[in-house]
Amino acid sequence: MRLDKFLSKATELSRSDAKKVLHRGEITVNDEIIKDGSRHIDVANDEVLWAGESLSVADGNRYLLLYKPEGFECSLKPKEHPSVVDLIAVPEVASLRMAGRLDVDTTGALILSDDGKFLHRVTSPKRHVAKTYQITLADPMSDELQQKAIHDVAKGILLEGETQKTCPAKLSFTDETHATLVLTEGKYHQVKRMMAYFGNKVIELHRANIGTINLDGLEKGECRFLTDDEIEQF
Ligand code: URA
Repeated sequence: MRLDKFLSKATELSRSDAKKVLHRGEITVNDEIIKDGSRHIDVANDEVLWAGESLSVADGNRYLLLYKPEGFECSLKPKEHPSVVDLIAVPEVASLRMAGRLDVDTTGALILSDDGKFLHRVTSPKRHVAKTYQITLADPMSDELQQKAIHDVAKGILLEGETQKTCPAKLSFTDETHATLVLTEGKYHQVKRMMAYFGNKVIELHRANIGTINLDGLEKGECRFLTDDEIEQF
């Protein structure tokens, strides 16, 4: 299939918007930036990413929640660790794609599906889907610094290498080294970079919720199908 056609099928982009996204160098095929929409791709085997998100047009209606453990990569072509899809025992697992990526050392909720438009709805910042992260910090943060971080994060902060501030987000602290951050977007390593902005380092990161979906009843490494209500909220 042509890459521009694939993009308009897998996302909510029109063919002409897909061309613009390609032209801006935002699309990679198997880790290579491709700007030519006429390029043919193998839908079943090529990994197409838009701003780091894996895209898919495979037919099917499978919607899964995985409790991702540490030590697994959110990639279909992992480099150093096993892929999260190795944890999932459903037919045609290779047609599943992930709604956003978690780092190898991050645990928690990961949605997978073979419905590309659904995945886009889960990850698009325009949809404001709340993702809740529980953070353990390396260094204690004083009350004063906690208040500053809460205030700045609520307004948006400019992370290194970015041209736009982060979307307004909600940060709270349970003590000097434990925080909860609710984001509605998913920039690369966003939580870790946001904490680095305040001079700290994340030593443990767990995604507890995506929208209303939580991990109740799942052990690390287990997955389940989403319910109709869970799917429809996006
Ligand atoms: N932000 C990060 O820094 N890492 C993750 O895995 C998820 C969000």
